[in-house]
Amino acid sequence: MDLQIRTSTDAGFDTEEWLHGVTRGFLRAPRMSAAEVSEWLTRSDPGRLRGAFTDGRCVATYRSFDQRLTVPGGTDVPAHAVTGVTVSPGHRRRGLLTRMMTADLAEAKEGGEMLSTLVAAEHGIYGRFGYGPAGASAAYTVERAEAGLAANWTLPAEEGVLDFYVDGSLVRTEGPELFERFRLLHPGAVDRPARWWSVATGEVPRDPAWREPWFVVHRDADGTLQGMASFTTDRQWDRGVPDGTATVHWLVATTPTAERALWRSVLSMDWVRRLKADQLPPDALLPELLPNPRAARVTETNDFLWLRPLDVPAMLRSRGYAVEGELVLEVTDPLGLAAGRFLLTAGPDGADCATTTRAADLTLDASALGTLYLGDRPASRLLTLGRLAEETPGAAHRADLLLGTHRRAWTPDVF
Ligand SMILES: CC(C)(COP(=O)(O)OP(=O)(O)OC[C@H]1O[C@@H](n2cnc3c(N)ncnc32)[C@H](O)[C@@H]1OP(=O)(O)O)[C@@H](O)C(=O)NCCC(=O)NCCS
Repeated sequence: MDLQIRTSTDAGFDTEEWLHGVTRGFLRAPRMSAAEVSEWLTRSDPGRLRGAFTDGRCVATYRSFDQRLTVPGGTDVPAHAVTGVTVSPGHRRRGLLTRMMTADLAEAKEGGEMLSTLVAAEHGIYGRFGYGPAGASAAYTVERAEAGLAANWTLPAEEGVLDFYVDGSLVRTEGPELFERFRLLHPGAVDRPARWWSVATGEVPRDPAWREPWFVVHRDADGTLQGMASFTTDRQWDRGVPDGTATVHWLVATTPTAERALWRSVLSMDWVRRLKADQLPPDALLPELLPNPRAARVTETNDFLWLRPLDVPAMLRSRGYAVEGELVLEVTDPLGLAAGRFLLTAGPDGADCATTTRAADLTLDASALGTLYLGDRPASRLLTLGRLAEETPGAAHRADLLLGTHRRAWTPDVF
């Protein structure tokens, strides 16, 4: 049967059928609802779509779009983000993902992109395409009774004001500016498109399981918005005793005071016995913001953001470095997009990176460089794991010092 891979720049590309393909591929439903299709078509920035079609039916999907990624040093860089990757069960393992991804990455390279990002559904899929796990996420549970919070806790006036149960419209109006300040504090954070806020506040049609969340905001003593959180609660009781769970979907805070106030506010609700949060950094402040940090338990950790180098000098020049240092990296690449030998000369005042003929300090493939880039995992760890080779004694340790960061890389949002 005729099978063709098409891109959204081809005349007659069937975007609606492509959307049904994604919905099927992620096992959401046999098709997207008409309301969702119409909303997506009118409000989304589709980016670049690829799909495999047979007899008008979309059996494989792929999408890439422009993103901003926060890197060490409190700045952000352009990223070529990949999402919507699905292949129907009847067409898997025939190279459809390989064809779509290699073509897309080659175009991205040609177009001058410096790196590509994605969130991997399974660990085994993307290493072969030069992506490496570059950040991490963790799920936490806090038992309120163990947290050591005073039962009658309220926020001291000098620490600002908490506003409970604010409306989604306030979140849509004030959230984006707060998030822009917040995301630059966290290497690995990505921008939230305008539509993200509509989806998170229920302004657009969602699947039937969606429930409108509660929102709480924190303003400092000067009245400046410094934090915002979204959570849902169940209303469980256990033989006459409240047994509720509050699930925090996202919490954005630009000061430790705001962060502490928001966590405590959710933990202070009378019928809430435990708090759950699935998408936090593994070094989240949450435990130590509680009088008893042991009340917060990590229930899951995961690699989350994956990163693939495309233009090594551009990406290494674009991040910040806390200390002075020099490294020669020999990068290999199965797709030939980022290979070469590069000299990085970096320090707190800036960095330079260019091809060199000097002898290499470290040899590594594109995926290992993707893992090192945001500083989440030290080079010496990758050396121990056999993911890079040391050509100059002590070079991995020098790389640890040069590329290391004080907080782990973390991506708050799925994309
Ligand atoms: C993951 C998925 C997109 C792979 O598509 P595909 O067209 O079958 O992939 P390809 O045929 O191009 O496979 C390329 C290689 O990756 C391997 N591979 C594919 N999926 C894999 C997986 N889930 N785990 C491990 N390896 C995988 C293949 O075995 C093949 O290896 P080979 O070249 O050594 O033979 C498809 O299985 C799928 O749609 N899964 C469900 C949705 C999903 O998980 N999407 C990813 C969202 S991030």
